Amino acid sequence: MARPKIALIGAGQIGGTLAHLAAMKELGDVVLFDISEGTPQGKALDIAESGPVEGFDAVLKGTNDYADIAGADVCIVTAGVPRKPGMSRDDLLGINLKVMKSVGEGIKAHAPNAFVICITNPLDAMVWALQKFSGLPAEKVVGMAGVLDAGRFRHFLSLEFGVSMRDVSAFVLGGHGDTMVPLARYSTVAGIPLPDLVKMGWTTQDKLDAIVQRTRDGGAEIVGLLKTGSAFYAPASSAIEMAEAYLKDQKRVLPCAAFVKGAYGLDGLYVGVPTVIGANGIEKVIDIKLDKDEQAMFDKSVDAVKGLVEACKGIDNSLA
Ligand code: APR
Repeated sequence: MARPKIALIGAGQIGGTLAHLAAMKELGDVVLFDISEGTPQGKALDIAESGPVEGFDAVLKGTNDYADIAGADVCIVTAGVPRKPGMSRDDLLGINLKVMKSVGEGIKAHAPNAFVICITNPLDAMVWALQKFSGLPAEKVVGMAGVLDAGRFRHFLSLEFGVSMRDVSAFVLGGHGDTMVPLARYSTVAGIPLPDLVKMGWTTQDKLDAIVQRTRDGGAEIVGLLKTGSAFYAPASSAIEMAEAYLKDQKRVLPCAAFVKGAYGLDGLYVGVPTVIGANGIEKVIDIKLDKDEQAMFDKSVDAVKGLVEACKGIDNSLA
């Protein structure tokens, strides 16, 4: 059986890391696409040359021609510009919306059967626009944010408790931004919910509150340190986990920016929710019952996403 084909639209910091991870994990053959001439070709060749040393079998190709993504099983989109210090994700909206239009048209023409994972920010609005521009079914177009946000939360929690990151699970909801909603009562250490760990005296509520805030600011913390761009290792790992769940029909339960209609009282909006990812794309949106405070935080997050979607409609009439 032929290997799956993974198209990476955008061959910058995240795109290059995605290509390396996909090859090392032997998820399939990789096509790196970018408008910058030489960048995708150079990265593809460089990674391919690590193949004999690492011992992976994957063909890597760099291109500036959308025709080369033809028949891709998965497309991961990072095309666009990243943040600089002092910028919010929302500041990228105007530039990256135009990029989503050309990317959506390229995917529609050459890879209409792909599972599409968007990483470009501001995430919830960009994945919404990408689905519209590409015309692909909503269950096949998804945004990567929750796995990354939960990963950051898990990392900080593991440091606080002094336990393996593998034994910490975390639950986040809402948009990928300052309004994201980390849910403490569904976040656990080996199944013990965080509020119980506070009662047991293993940590304090103040410390947990600080960790939640650091998680919300996780992207900005990295931007502030790097100064020339935004995070790329953890975002790439997170998207690869989603791609693998699709390609191997793993039915993983992962938080993603998915199209939600009906669940959570929403009438068709991309926002971060727990989902099941398998061979059909987003196979299920898990509709959990929120308490009053959680609902208020979620509503605030939904309003922020709606504001960005309205701003997109204002910029591009075809989206209205
Ligand atoms: N089509 C294809 N590629 C494009 C286009 C386009 N229209 N416009 C820009 N690009 C390419 C750039 O040439 C660059 O190589 O997208 C790549 C982006 O790479 P980086 O600038 O290194 O950004 P990166 O860190 O990978 O982040 C990409 O993901 O997390 C988000 O906020 C981040 O929106 C940003 C995106």
